[in-house]
Amino acid sequence: MKYLLFFSISLLFIPATFAQTNKAKDLVSKMTLDEKVSLLVGMGMNIPGMNMGGAPVVGQTMDKVPGAAGTTFGIPRLGIPNTVVSDGPAGLRIEPIRKNDSSKTYYATAWPVATLLASTWNTNLVEQVGKAMGNEVKEYGVDVILGPALNIHRNPLGGRNFEYFSEDPLISGKMTAAMVNGIEANGVGTSIKHFAANNQETNRNTVNTIVSERALREIYLKGFQIAIKESQPWTVMSSYNYINGKYTSEDYDLLTTILRKEWGFKGLVMTDWFGGKDPVAQMKAGNDLLMPGTAAQKKTILDAVNNGTLNAKVTDENAERLVEYILGSPSYKKTVFTNKPDLKAHAAIARVAAIEGMVLLKNEASALPLGKSTKNIAVFGNTSYDFISGGTGSGDVNEAYTISLVQGLSNAGYHVDEEIKNMYNNFISSEKAKQPQKSFFESFMNPNPPLPEFTVDNSLLLKKSTESDIALITIGRNAGEGRDRKTENDFYLSDAEKALIKNVGDAFHAKNKKVVVVLNIGGVIETVSWKDNADAIVLVWQPGLEAGNAVADILIGKVNPSGKLASTFPLKYEDVPSAKSFPGKEFPEKTTTGNFGMKMNPAEVTYEDGIYVGYRYYNSFHVKPAFEFGYGLSYTDFKFSNLTLSSKTFDKKIRAAITITNTGKVAGKEVAQLYISAPTGKLDKPAEELKGFVKTGLLQPGQSENITFTINAEDLASFNTDVTAWVADAGTYAVKIGSSSANIKQTANFNLLKEVVVEKCNKVMVPQVTINELHQ
Ligand code: BGC
Repeated sequence: MKYLLFFSISLLFIPATFAQTNKAKDLVSKMTLDEKVSLLVGMGMNIPGMNMGGAPVVGQTMDKVPGAAGTTFGIPRLGIPNTVVSDGPAGLRIEPIRKNDSSKTYYATAWPVATLLASTWNTNLVEQVGKAMGNEVKEYGVDVILGPALNIHRNPLGGRNFEYFSEDPLISGKMTAAMVNGIEANGVGTSIKHFAANNQETNRNTVNTIVSERALREIYLKGFQIAIKESQPWTVMSSYNYINGKYTSEDYDLLTTILRKEWGFKGLVMTDWFGGKDPVAQMKAGNDLLMPGTAAQKKTILDAVNNGTLNAKVTDENAERLVEYILGSPSYKKTVFTNKPDLKAHAAIARVAAIEGMVLLKNEASALPLGKSTKNIAVFGNTSYDFISGGTGSGDVNEAYTISLVQGLSNAGYHVDEEIKNMYNNFISSEKAKQPQKSFFESFMNPNPPLPEFTVDNSLLLKKSTESDIALITIGRNAGEGRDRKTENDFYLSDAEKALIKNVGDAFHAKNKKVVVVLNIGGVIETVSWKDNADAIVLVWQPGLEAGNAVADILIGKVNPSGKLASTFPLKYEDVPSAKSFPGKEFPEKTTTGNFGMKMNPAEVTYEDGIYVGYRYYNSFHVKPAFEFGYGLSYTDFKFSNLTLSSKTFDKKIRAAITITNTGKVAGKEVAQLYISAPTGKLDKPAEELKGFVKTGLLQPGQSENITFTINAEDLASFNTDVTAWVADAGTYAVKIGSSSANIKQTANFNLLKEVVVEKCNKVMVPQVTINELHQ
């Protein structure tokens, strides 16, 4: 009896996943080989306007949620439904208007892009965004959103940087975990992507990323490792590129040895769309699901199992992981969805998040916030009237509206100069009418170039500088999937943009009036050549659908800016540590084109910058940036005091405590950034590495907050290739807490008496060539 009781109680405590695993095994054992393999290959994709060359795709269930990126195969006889996956990552990407259903709309919230969310340095807020985003996933009947995305901002020209968080793996990992936890709290899944080292769009499909084991582990894998540990996402998406000679989707060492065995990932791996080339190698690597799925892939896998070159055990295991995912999905659970998420409530959250990630880069003589006497605003720059909520490509969300800067200012009760407004609006509509009409697919991968900047003549500027109280100028940038940005007229401002800032600056400064520049951009640009003409610069990134309202909140001081850069703004492009090796080496013999007609050159990119990405480089090599990592101004001031360490000697962990006080006149939030300088032992170490960050609550003038950080052994460790392990060297470590990577307010030291091997790893993904890596 006693035993029976014990047995039945323990049954109650069997974790859901364990029961699910057994059920998955059982279901797979009941499948025919054809069913199993069908499950491992997605149901295909219908790209409007694109000739799929004789329908290489398996099937079409795109009607389940129109505009979704793909679906998995269903086996009704076993109760296995089709599940739906949809982009991601700045919100749910689905068709807003459905054929034969014109009475309803299916808009989703365009959230602030990841680069902005990272600039909040506020993981709680990002989790809230995730909760609301995940609610839309659920309410629109989608099972998995294809995001968040966390590739590293290796180079400012990366076309998809707006979808990614930061140049730093800790921020990328923490933000991803927060977002995943928020989204998945709704009972829907995420797919963290693109795993891994997919840091450029130029020839993303066949480029071979050559990278050292140390840089791979410390920079390009670290964020994924943190995200797996802290959020265990339902799925991971492998990337398109090769790493050290192997397609990531075909690399057992990456997807099984590292991801599953070392890090303990329990979920499903899917390919990026049409990624990789050998379905059998993908199966063997542990890439369970091939998306969106083609008939040819299915046949190749079936043939391989039938002729014995692919062990049926492999396909069984992959299918079990797929079924396990399906058993947890809303489609399987028949979760009721309304198709009516509360978009209004979500817009309010999007506005709060957008405000918190905006970065005040410059504020000379308190040009901002706009004073009470400011009534009439002269607003310049095409983008002020045609604001950019997010980037292009699969990361583009179909939102119902975007509030422009001028709308936001009007909503806040300001008078926007009508004459200038009409000129811009007329110019923009006539220029847009001249642009070529492109098909869905053409504009997806190759959107029309930005409109030429409208030229404002000097007599108008003279008049307006008299009539208006202040001038605002917006500089806009957009980019996305399929191509990287350029230096000319993109990283660097165009001549017309520079002339606009200069002429407006001259005219308004002559009348003793201020000029504010708003940067509505998704990636880093050059600022030094023009910043002297502006009294204030506000980096608003691509802030989602509530854009203009959020910018107005910052400009008028309704909310005090508290965003901090999560990627460095260099003085010039040549200063970027990867400038020489990005986007890679061209091989004249590679003349063919790959998927979707993409060029197969440059065929190789060697990460010669090694671990010196972003501030790790600028700080270690004393290269002064325009705005450093972690930088951002406020309308108030903060004092950092009383840094104390729990011990002078490290033993398993150390706590660091600090007090932050608002010493200014208005309420505000500050970020405590904890950097560690490690002793140079066997390896060279970056001057500083971020190991923790905490955003304060809203501190009233005079109010303080005490913050505590815990530093663990793994925070001290570097990846030592010789012993294939994370090792913390013995010596003196400096804990530096500051408001940016260059503005350290307090420092304290501790010692590690003996070297610690924190984690032993597998010797895998070794480059086959010598890399001429940057060293100090
Ligand atoms: C992108 C992925 C995206 C997928 C599905 C690919 O082209 O690289 O990020 O999730 O398409 O749309």
